[in-house]
Amino acid sequence: MIDQTLLPLTYRLHACATVDCLIEAIQMLRVRGAPALGAAGAYGVALSAIEHRKEPQELFYRHVVEDCARLARARPTAINLSWGVNEQRALLDHQEGPEETIERLVEHAKRIAETDVQNNKSIGRHGARLIEDGDSILTHCNAGALACVGYGTALGIVRWAHGEGKRIHVYVDETRPLCQGARLTAWELVREGIPATLVTDNMAGSLMRAGRVDKVVVGADRITAHGDVANKIGTYSLAVLAHHHGIPLIVAAPVSTIDFSCTALEDIPIEERDADEVRYCCGVQVAPSGVAAYNPAFDVTPASLVDSIVTENGIARPPDKRSLGALKP
Ligand code: MRU
Repeated sequence: MIDQTLLPLTYRLHACATVDCLIEAIQMLRVRGAPALGAAGAYGVALSAIEHRKEPQELFYRHVVEDCARLARARPTAINLSWGVNEQRALLDHQEGPEETIERLVEHAKRIAETDVQNNKSIGRHGARLIEDGDSILTHCNAGALACVGYGTALGIVRWAHGEGKRIHVYVDETRPLCQGARLTAWELVREGIPATLVTDNMAGSLMRAGRVDKVVVGADRITAHGDVANKIGTYSLAVLAHHHGIPLIVAAPVSTIDFSCTALEDIPIEERDADEVRYCCGVQVAPSGVAAYNPAFDVTPASLVDSIVTENGIARPPDKRSLGALKP
């Protein structure tokens, strides 16, 4: 995987030969973004089987099942992580030997990774219909190729529209505390040659008031059956602002991000991270050591503030139980 904690200054690949190493990478956000976590979880189960391949069959099976649970717990909000793990968990058969199991798990992990890229291109194709020539798009966090196996969800829409020849411009929210927008989204857009301007998170309202934002396009970590959207902290503030200014909020995500079993937004687990991520910015202390700091990594935007949810199977607009249910495979 690309070590995303080092970008944009250093591009370095990070290899994991153990499940412990992968869990550390997930928790430190070396690999991050819901779809990328789904693939990482799937590969993690295959990695576990490889790690335990020399053990007697019963022990082998028990240890892989235990690793499934550890991997799924590594980060709680993005449902794609447990989805990727559960896809693999369902393939485990306690009567099968390690070598056949490894082969099956590696193959399925590859399939999940390949499908992710295809899905993102479909999201891009569907979503680009909502983008007009000349649009100025505000995005938050990073829902690009780095957050997925490739191409991106929210940035997939931007890429597709740009590829169609639409003249678009992207405002990139810095996305404190970990600056995924400044570090990762800006890096992707500069590499792609897509016109983009970096802004700090507190500039969005003033940009909207000045009429400089036509659409807000973001990704998602978990979507309830009714269309409420958990995404990077700050998305809810953008949604309220966009609603006030009559600007559509477009959410892009694969169907695997929809938790059809979750019907209440309060039931989405919100990860709370180390307060030092707020006291520091990119390794530099920006607040006094003794100050209390609060660091929820995600917030939830109610469906009523979302214009549309774009998936690989089409668009739910407005998003609700019926329109999302129709996108189920
Ligand atoms: O904490 P992160 O960086 O993993 O949060 C990522 C986001 O909130 C993304 O917007 C979301 O996972 C969608 S990625 C296509």
